[in-house]
This record gives sequence, C-alpha cells and structure tokens, in this order.
Amino acid sequence: MPEPTPIYTALQQYAGKNFLRLHMPGHAGKGIKQQELCRLATLDLTEIPGLDDLHLPTGVIKESQELLARAFGAGKSYFLVNGATSGIHALFLALNKEGNKVLLPRNAHRSFYGGLVLSGAVPVYLPVQVESELGIALAVTAEDVTRLLLSNPDINNVFISSPSYYGTGCDIAAIAGITSSHNKLLLVDEAHGAHFAFSQRCPRTALGSGADGVVNGLHKTLPVLNQGACLHLSARLAGDLRIEKTLSLLTTTSPSYPILASIELARQFMEENGESLLEKSWQLSREYRQKINAIAGLSCCEQELQAVTGVTGLDPLKMLVSVRGSALNGYQLAALLREGYGIQVELEDTNFVLAMFSVFHDRNDWEKFYQALQVIAATYPGRGRTWPKVELPPLPPMLLTPRQAFMASSLKVPLKDALNRVAAEMIAVYPPGIPCLLPGELINQEMLDYIIYLGKSGARIQGPRDPSLQHINVID
Ligand SMILES: Cc1ncc(COP(=O)(O)O)c(C=O)c1O
Repeated sequence: MPEPTPIYTALQQYAGKNFLRLHMPGHAGKGIKQQELCRLATLDLTEIPGLDDLHLPTGVIKESQELLARAFGAGKSYFLVNGATSGIHALFLALNKEGNKVLLPRNAHRSFYGGLVLSGAVPVYLPVQVESELGIALAVTAEDVTRLLLSNPDINNVFISSPSYYGTGCDIAAIAGITSSHNKLLLVDEAHGAHFAFSQRCPRTALGSGADGVVNGLHKTLPVLNQGACLHLSARLAGDLRIEKTLSLLTTTSPSYPILASIELARQFMEENGESLLEKSWQLSREYRQKINAIAGLSCCEQELQAVTGVTGLDPLKMLVSVRGSALNGYQLAALLREGYGIQVELEDTNFVLAMFSVFHDRNDWEKFYQALQVIAATYPGRGRTWPKVELPPLPPMLLTPRQAFMASSLKVPLKDALNRVAAEMIAVYPPGIPCLLPGELINQEMLDYIIYLGKSGARIQGPRDPSLQHINVID
C-alpha cells in the first residue's frame, strides 16, 4: 500500500527526530516568536535528505505528484508554489516562441498578459460572451474558436479560462474537439475549478473534457494554503521537457514545504471525502438558491447565466446574488453584510455580490447568509435605479506585442495629447472587465473619444495609473 501523504509524513518524521537544525530556513524551526506562526515553522523545512527536490523529484515529491496526477486523471501533474499564475506563465513560455500567435479571451486573468510578455507571443483575441443584465463576461464559444483558427491558421495554441470567476464553464469538450482537429494544443486556466474533479455535481473538468494542459489554483477552492496550485498535463503532453524546464526556471529554489504538504493533504482529503461533501454542498446550494430567490428584490443567478451562449455548467458553490430588483446596489449590500452580520463576500459589484461557499461551510453558514439577506432586503424595500450599460468600442490596432510594449520605455501624457500614441497601460471597465485598451495598442480617435467618455462616466476603471483618466501612459 503506497504512503498516501509521503511529503507530510516525511516532514513529521523529521520534526519528530528533534534534529539540531544547522540548515535553512533561518528560523531553525523555533525562531519565530509568535506562537501560531512558529507552529507552522516546525514543518517549514528545506530540501534536506528525505525531503526530495521539487526541481528534480525522485522521492517523496515525485510520489506525491504521481498521486496528484492519479486523483485528477492527468498524464502528469506538477506542484506550483506561486499560485496558478506561475503555471500559466510556464505554459505560455514553454509552448511559444517569440512571434507565435496564441488565441485567448481578451478578459483573461492578468497572468495571461504576463505569459505573453515572457514568451513574446502575439495575442489573437476571442470574443467573450457577456450576460447583458449583470454585464459580466462569462464564456468563449466553440464557433468563435473555429472561426478564428480558420482565419488564422498560424495560431500556435489556444489558451482559455474555464470556469469564469462567476462559476460558469465553457464547452471545453467541443473546443477540445476543434483544437485537436486543427492539431493545436488546448490549454485551460481552471484556477477556480479544482474541486470539479471530485464530484459529478460540478461541471466536467477541463482535463476530462480533452484539454492538453490545465492549471488549478488549488488554494482557491480546496483546503490548501495560499499560493498552492498545480499544473496537469494530458497523456499527450506528459513529461514535455520544454514545460519541465520552464517550470524549473520560474520556480523558487526554496519551495514552501507547508504549501506542498497542504496540497497533498487536500488531495487525500478530497479523494476520501470530496464526493460526499460536495453532494451535501450541492444540496445546500439548491435549497438556498430557492430560498434566496423568494426574497423580494434579490435573485440567485442560474438560468440567466446558463442561457448565455457558450456557457455549459455552473459551479454550485458560487452564489451570484443579483441586486437588480433591490433598492441597494452590490457595494451597499456587501457593506451591510460585512458591518451588520460579519459576512465578507468574495466580490461585489454594482449589480451583484458573489458569495463563494466551500465544502467546509455547513448549513449554519448558508442559513446565516440567507437570514442576513432576508433582513437586509426587508429593511431596504423598493426597487433601485437601473445602472447604465457601458458599451465597448472596436478593438484598436495592435502596433507592438505585449512583450515589446512591456520592454519599451513609457511616459505620462495628458489624455488630450495621446492621439495616435501607443498605449503603455491597460484600461478596463468593470463590469464587464474586458480591457478596451492594452499596452501596445494604438490610441486612435475612436479610442481617445471613448476614454474621454469613460473619464466622465463615473464607470469603475482598472489598469491606468491615473484612474481619473486625466493622463495616460504611452510608449515613449
Ligand atoms: C481566472 C484566474 N486565473 C488565474 C488566477 C491566478 O491565480 P493565483 O492567484 O493562484 O496566481 C486567478 C486569480 O485570481 C484567476 O481568477
């Protein structure tokens, strides 16, 4: 019978032997004076005999990665100690040469941009389907993947995100069928879907749907310390030397063993308990969706998300509560939940709050959330105002690749002087969070007019160093 938690067991064994620690880290297992941190430090070890080497694993780390691959149905899996970000960076850098085209959604997480900068790849953007009432970007479609692969046969690989932050999945099986028939790799940022592998009640995993490389942000939805994540490769890509070399290049030589052990323990825990716990969570989710829907002014979005083209499946643990029928906006509701009830949600926006439940939230927690919503809604009756929708302009021409723009020097100019300059920073309006301008893109007359309009609109902007949009950074 193989050891189910080889890393954790080796750490415990070492700590139990009470060695005089004449090695890194400098706290020597006892030097952190705050008790709760010091307890963690006893297992905060380094690559001493018996603890293997993350960069060339042959012992407990190798065994544990094999167990991880088995649990997720991967050809090969790798631990990541710098979040999903590092896996996304590694896939971009390993699988693209400077100038290669990559098909990706324009609203992808900023780590995609980092991957483009590191690799020098050239983005071709997939349109993102938006749920029009809430204004949130949810999915890319198989039809758009086909169309863009046909019109850009030199695309090197396709890198998409699924599930979205809001819990909606894309039709990965259909997209994988297309990428495979075009002989391209399909890579998926499944940062928010690590728990999908453990229950039929969740959307099918990207790997199980035919993706070639998948990144899970394990710390986001499983009992894993922050930064704990993993990269899975299908049998087709398993052991790809370019990926192993790149992972090593981008990974610290002092990986955190507590993070590694927490990944391993979470994997074991979910293998043993995940299915039954997710079943309970799914039932609670069904029950409380109905209850929340019965509260005047609030609704727990489900059908409207599933109705968006390209969306297949919904994470039962993401509760997206629309406030569009309420007197409150999402920011006000989130503040009332925080200040009046000690409840902190994951995300708040004009039209909604997003509450993230996990298998560790029991009926009391769901009930507490529901009761708070009920009291708040009764205290603030009536309909609020409808919020104007922000339209996006057409994509501007890209004059420099993300890498070229990142490497170039930039300067800050008054917005009115930015006509026909090349942007050195991103501008994105939330919602929908799809950038209208990215570094390397031309600020033409249409874009300049749009940015001036944004500056006056009071819309929530992310990206520019001057959020009032009086000035903008451009390439020098
Ligand atoms: C969709 C998505 N992908 C990737 C990441 C990066 O994950 P990490 O913070 O683990 O690096 C995030 C982080 O929020 C994310 O939301």
